[in-house]
Amino acid sequence: MSGPSAVQAPVGTHDVLAPDSARWQYLIATFADWARRYDFSLIINPLFEDVAVFNRGIGEASEMATKEMYVFADRGGRTLALRPEGTASVVRAFVQHRPATPYKAWYVTPAFRYERPQKGRYRQHHQLGVEALGTDDPSLDVEVVSLAWRFYAALGLTRVRLLINSMGHLECRGAYVAVLTDYLAAHEAEICDEHRPTWRANPLRVLDCKKDACVALTTVGPMLIDHLCHECATHFSQVRSGLEAIGIASELNPRLVRGFDYYTRTTFEFVSDALESAQNAVGGGGRYDTLVEQLGGPPTSGIGFGSGIERLLLVLEAEGVTVPVAALDVFVVDTCEEDATSSLVDELRRVGLSVGRAYDARSMKAQMKAADRSGARYALLVGPREQTAGEVTMRDLRGEQSAGQVTLSRERVVAHVTDLVKKRL
Ligand code: HAM
Repeated sequence: MSGPSAVQAPVGTHDVLAPDSARWQYLIATFADWARRYDFSLIINPLFEDVAVFNRGIGEASEMATKEMYVFADRGGRTLALRPEGTASVVRAFVQHRPATPYKAWYVTPAFRYERPQKGRYRQHHQLGVEALGTDDPSLDVEVVSLAWRFYAALGLTRVRLLINSMGHLECRGAYVAVLTDYLAAHEAEICDEHRPTWRANPLRVLDCKKDACVALTTVGPMLIDHLCHECATHFSQVRSGLEAIGIASELNPRLVRGFDYYTRTTFEFVSDALESAQNAVGGGGRYDTLVEQLGGPPTSGIGFGSGIERLLLVLEAEGVTVPVAALDVFVVDTCEEDATSSLVDELRRVGLSVGRAYDARSMKAQMKAADRSGARYALLVGPREQTAGEVTMRDLRGEQSAGQVTLSRERVVAHVTDLVKKRL
């Protein structure tokens, strides 16, 4: 009789095991370091929220809310949703806890979207992101964009471009949407098949459409950037000149509208020329100066971005950048006495080395194989001869075997190995 069938991860989700997980760890640690430099503190939010938190922010009628969000009823009859993105939860937490402003938070989070899974697009993906609340000072826009830019550069990416646009605030955008509506109505027959029946619900979506028909139509149509009010235009030019002043080149893309309703003023996207254009966005973000109020808080401006970890890993691979992955420092091989092994391993770990060992009292040969497989730099061997003499044999697992082997006294071995490991750093 056969047993139960083997269980599998849901479609569009992935397990991340070593050695891949070491690359994730490196990305997260590097991002945390850049967030620290820019004075952002970590925030941890629930993975699910009352569905209204997302509906109010990203737009109840949006494709995300109606087709992609994982919405469910809990056992108490509440309607909840798995977070499709990080911003709305951070803003909800801001409204609930009212931290002092400017409030600057960074996060690493899974995000859930019921999408058609393909390379670079998953049903559970992960984002590194920041949100900064409390001011619409354009220098904050510059900071947020530059944090992402410096982070990408620190990873060694060279083919990332910054696209930027301004969505204006609600009034100038409203006036523009009226102009755009007139334009699209006059050219309705030229709109792509998908958007022709639906464009009136949200004419801005036509700008986002990648189909040739909509691209051709909107490239020559009215642009939001030409309809900004004086204040929004000034804000945008200050952001762009601020970026230029610190050597960050931004490309104006007047068709960049992004997918969530909450955006106002500065919007931006980082695209990689090393990826295929359908999934070439490694990060994106913008201002959301009305979202705090929409979630019941006082008028408070905000800006942030999110960057997909899976996308970043694809870009790193496409650009041929290798991520430094820390190997094990030492593998202890001991065929004598369990307590002696444990105390040597314990001592090495307490001085800070990463140490592997074998279990189940395996043979010397099996343990040496395990040491080789482990990728450790050094093996420390304690056989019967070493045990009697109070010694340990140290083998350099990457050097010539005969040349790379020395015998050390048990008392000296920890200091000696620590010294060697540190010198190689
Ligand atoms: P977003 O552009 O939807 O923005 O997502 C941010 C990034 O997450 C994208 O640029 C992409 O790298 C990655 N990403 C999005 N969807 C997927 C997916 N299905 N599979 C793999 N990666 C994906 C936001 O989520 C906003 N909350 C960003 C933001 C923060 N705006 C202001 N503050």
